[in-house]
Amino acid sequence: MNILLGVTGGIAAYKSLLLTRLFVKAGYQVQVVMTAGAKEFIQPLSFQALSGNPVRDSLFDQNQEAGMGHIELARWADQIVIAPATAETIAKLRMGRAEDLLGTLCLVTDKPIMVVPAMNLLMWSNDATQENVSQLKQRGFDVLEPEEGEQACGDIGSGRMPEPQAIFDYVQQKIAQKAELEHLFLKGQSFWKDKRVLITAGPTFEDIDPVRFIGNRSSGKMGFALAEAAQKLGAIVTLISGPVQILPPPHIERVVDVRSADQMFSAVQKHYADSDYFISAAAVADFKIEHKLDKKLKKQAQETSFSLSLVQNVDIVAWVAQQKNRPFVIGFAAETDHVLDYAKEKLARKKLDAIIANEVGEGAKGFESDVNQVTLMTLNTVQTFAEASKKSLGFQLLSAIQELRSECVGSN
Ligand code: CTP
Repeated sequence: MNILLGVTGGIAAYKSLLLTRLFVKAGYQVQVVMTAGAKEFIQPLSFQALSGNPVRDSLFDQNQEAGMGHIELARWADQIVIAPATAETIAKLRMGRAEDLLGTLCLVTDKPIMVVPAMNLLMWSNDATQENVSQLKQRGFDVLEPEEGEQACGDIGSGRMPEPQAIFDYVQQKIAQKAELEHLFLKGQSFWKDKRVLITAGPTFEDIDPVRFIGNRSSGKMGFALAEAAQKLGAIVTLISGPVQILPPPHIERVVDVRSADQMFSAVQKHYADSDYFISAAAVADFKIEHKLDKKLKKQAQETSFSLSLVQNVDIVAWVAQQKNRPFVIGFAAETDHVLDYAKEKLARKKLDAIIANEVGEGAKGFESDVNQVTLMTLNTVQTFAEASKKSLGFQLLSAIQELRSECVGSN
């Protein structure tokens, strides 16, 4: 395992010496790349001695380029770790600048990049920095958030780089997770190849009048993550999405945008018969407005309370489960309490093959979060997954569904 450690110009750079040592002691190959700012704080020779490799610090050094050119260096790395990452470095990464070696390497690599910010607390909390960090996260960078505490400048707050051991443990954990995903990927490829997978995701909006609606907090992230994992495993995916703020994953065979539960039901009716799997991840509204208004509803003078008449929507997943030639049907149960009991009851009542239960509400992972903690249940089995990113859970759940199917086939 080859680690490329980027060190940028912050006082926390001294901690990266110890980090280098921890990597080397654990058996990793380490190449250190320093920015000009980093060299103001630490001598490259220290990193060279600890890593056992010459430090790279220039994009245009003919000697270094003759040895391992910057493209080869990027190819060599299995994991890039930038610690400390200054506000300036984070801003440059966000812009995709290639003016120095580290910026260029981050542009030419397809390997995971971990960023460990360290800076003054006001710099860290500044909107510009926070916006840059959130952009990097959205692009798939791993950001290990700074710690609270006393800073080198004397201020007390958030911005301190975590201790080398904590960074090392985090890197190890990420590397292990990646290896596990690669394993699941290899295992799932032949199974999911050309399987037709229909997925609903996101909320539904039930219009009251042209300006108001009843909706819910589903972000669509879990359904989209399942769609992405299925597509990457070679499945032919149809994704039916309610109104969400995120873009569908690339290369999905068919994406159908809908707004209401009725529209989602029509789209499912159109596609379910051609599907091998139906994963109902959408948070479908149970009720719709009985009489939707064409014009904006006006408040009446003296009105202190107001009632809306609602009628039930079709239960889409239960409907699919009742059809004769139906796909393997997996539902979701988002619950605030008695999660597993309610999920099991839904599984039986809706006659599903499996259900994925997760807790939602105040303090829980669930809806808007990028991480989730779920349990996959059938009538006879319960499999609980450790908290993980929704993207990773997408692969883990498909792998577990694959196992369920293999067991079914085996027992027939
Ligand atoms: N579902 C559906 N159509 C509906 C309502 C729900 O397909 N009209 C699906 C969801 O996509 C999910 C599962 O049913 O897979 C569970 O949804 P949930 O709303 O939690 O269950 P309900 O039956 O509505 O139960 P309750 O509201 O009591 O929790």
